[in-house]
Amino acid sequence: MNNLFKKDRNNHKTHALGYAIGQKGMACCDHELPSYSLLKEEISLPAAVIKRSHLENNMQWMQKFANHHGVKLCPHGKTTMTPEFFRQQQECGAWGVTVATAPQVEVAAQSGITNIMMANQLVGKANMAIIHRVQRDTDARVMVCVDSKQNIQQLQHYFEHVNSAIDVLIEYGVAGGRCGCRTVDEVIALAQFIANMPNVNLVGIEVYEGVIHGGDEEARVRQFLANTLELAGQLVADNLQPEKPIVTGAGSAWYDVVAEEFAHLDAFDAILRPGCYVIHDTGIYLDAQHKVMRRAEKTKVLLVSLAAISLPL
Ligand SMILES: Cc1ncc(COP(=O)(O)O)c(C=O)c1O
Repeated sequence: MNNLFKKDRNNHKTHALGYAIGQKGMACCDHELPSYSLLKEEISLPAAVIKRSHLENNMQWMQKFANHHGVKLCPHGKTTMTPEFFRQQQECGAWGVTVATAPQVEVAAQSGITNIMMANQLVGKANMAIIHRVQRDTDARVMVCVDSKQNIQQLQHYFEHVNSAIDVLIEYGVAGGRCGCRTVDEVIALAQFIANMPNVNLVGIEVYEGVIHGGDEEARVRQFLANTLELAGQLVADNLQPEKPIVTGAGSAWYDVVAEEFAHLDAFDAILRPGCYVIHDTGIYLDAQHKVMRRAEKTKVLLVSLAAISLPL
């Protein structure tokens, strides 16, 4: 045993026992049926249990919601990191899957997802090598976010070196938020900078309104989204991004507002990225969904279909 643990070092490569050391939710029984029973104690605990009917309901509902608003859906996959769910979401009509890291991009690509948005910056040669491997070995189209000249230079250097190119979205952030350019001028300066980088292609703007907190949130989120569309239009007018660029936003707390603000846009390819909606029916996401419902009551928009979104497990 000592030896096995020495070799494993959390890489879980040791299959000497018929399973990887540290494997979670492992099935343990003497039959070869394709499924295992939690109630018969055939699966190691703790194990997350997700009701298929609720999962499918949530996937289909959000897809219909996106379709109704004329926007694409690219659900955030970091929430489940479950290839089977990625495929189901794609089969329901999702345009692609969003992820947070380069290894997650590779999991999504290996799951057969065709459009993969990394809603995060691609930093470091090792991560760039993973993205390049995905470009080389799969049919997936990968987009990553940028918010600094230094990072763009690094991407240019790496992708030129491997004789490839990378599609990027400029992240437009908010003061006090996480990543992202803080001002319109910063975004424009970055777009001008990218225009001189032959191996870095600007394909749109990414925002995450979920970092806007404090009083008067809804009005501030709407204003932020309106500013984003104006900015995206300005970049097109200045020939800094292609016709019909991507504008993407939305987590599970404000997807209704983002869908409304980005609805049926001819000039942009609008893409929503909520992730938690698919399995989170309690806690802050239940509160967030109640707020969505209250907003819908005010505007009477899609009230009937909203009522069906998701029953608590
Ligand atoms: C950049 C980005 N986009 C989308 C999402 C999805 O939001 P949610 O987890 O609320 O579904 C997240 C979540 O953290 C995120 O960070």
